[in-house]
Amino acid sequence: MKNICVIGTGYVGLPTAGCFADLGNRVVTVDIDERKIQRLLAGQMPIYEPGLEELIERNVKAGRLSFTTSYEEGLRDAEYVFICVGTPSAVDGEADLKYVRAAAQTIAQTMTHPMIIVNKSTVPVGTGDWTAEIISKSQPKPIDFAVVSCPEFLREGSAISDFMKPDRTVLGSNNRSAAEAVAELYEPLHAPILITDLRTAEMIKYASNAFLATKISFINEISIICERLGADVTEVARGMGYDKRIGSQFLQAGVGYGGSCFPKDVKALANMALTHGMHPQLLNAVMEINDFQRKHIILKIRDLLGGSLEDKTVGVLGLAFKENTDDTRESPASTVVRSLMNQGARVKAYDPMAMEHAIRELDGIIPCQSAYEAAEGVDALVILTPWNEFKNLDFERIRRTMHEPILVDGRNLYDPETMRQHGFVYRGVGRGYNGEGRTNGHAHTTSAL
Ligand code: UDX
Repeated sequence: MKNICVIGTGYVGLPTAGCFADLGNRVVTVDIDERKIQRLLAGQMPIYEPGLEELIERNVKAGRLSFTTSYEEGLRDAEYVFICVGTPSAVDGEADLKYVRAAAQTIAQTMTHPMIIVNKSTVPVGTGDWTAEIISKSQPKPIDFAVVSCPEFLREGSAISDFMKPDRTVLGSNNRSAAEAVAELYEPLHAPILITDLRTAEMIKYASNAFLATKISFINEISIICERLGADVTEVARGMGYDKRIGSQFLQAGVGYGGSCFPKDVKALANMALTHGMHPQLLNAVMEINDFQRKHIILKIRDLLGGSLEDKTVGVLGLAFKENTDDTRESPASTVVRSLMNQGARVKAYDPMAMEHAIRELDGIIPCQSAYEAAEGVDALVILTPWNEFKNLDFERIRRTMHEPILVDGRNLYDPETMRQHGFVYRGVGRGYNGEGRTNGHAHTTSAL
């Protein structure tokens, strides 16, 4: 059993705290947001993550997990402090480190004994060194500490199983024994542990996310070509994925990647390259393709509606940036919905988990209680998040209540032929089969919007 303090109760901090407690450690979780801590103490989760509530409840009951707004309480017995605060993008694309800075300063001013400070937030290469400098400068009197980078690879929606069954754990430090001490915390997970230097660990996180984003943009570009040439990108991806060197994951064409990580991390990596005098050609293309993918879906809807969205009603299924989360940060759906409304359309929208966020963020949407309600009376229905509950809808019922039977499937959830048999005018992404692309493909241009 080790004593761990986790700073931050967001999508990274809470699963990390809950999982470390579940592995038998004593974990104190600190957040400066009084309201969040009050909710957690009352057993309410500030975020939706499958399995999180049970995990937290079980470990609080067992006395291994507690919550506080006090750094004094959090750090009192801590051998390890995990920084899991947000690193949003600043206006210029650089990661905004104000929360990391604040956490480092407060740790420095509060610590009364030596400890290992582990950074889990995604931070620009060099931030570990910068954090160590801030801590040294902010300490009222020198106390020993080491900084270790341990980038998180958790996906929202599967954060708990990703923590418990990681592909690997990456640890970087200029102090090898500190990294080895952190490795002990991860040994019960029986996954490979790579120990390297601070900057390399920080870079592994950016390179991994940028590579996955590149895979998505690659297949999205292929999807546009498929539409023009009459091929089906879902089959192309399957055929490619059997090749072990390529792999089948992250090859689903759609409305582009979103969320709190990929858009921000690719931008930040490109920015790091730029500020060091390099031209990040591939990363720029990855971002450009991702932006285009959202526009492409709007062009498709507009074309099917006769060239104008003015006074049309569009039903939207899915607002979260992906399934199994309530998170709408950088959601492709948000961009699409805003653009539809800007071009004069009314938008009826439904998401199984993200309605609360969406209503706050998307002024003017007509919120619905179900997929069926969102489809009623609309001129087109568009799928933007691949939730399971959208996969087996009663399509006869949906089509009957729609004003026009136009179905635009931004996530390729359905079989085109089956949807045509249900009487829909169906368009997926990158599925030029049956002449779809040849009659409705768009040139790869963003000038139309
Ligand atoms: C990601 C990384 O996977 C994780 O390792 C890192 O720690 C944080 O960023 P997350 O943001 O939760 O996790 O989402 P992920 O499941 O990776 O999906 C990102 C986006 O890509 C979503 O919008 C998703 O819909 C999209 N996506 C994913 C595709 O469009 N096609 C795919 O084939 C896969």
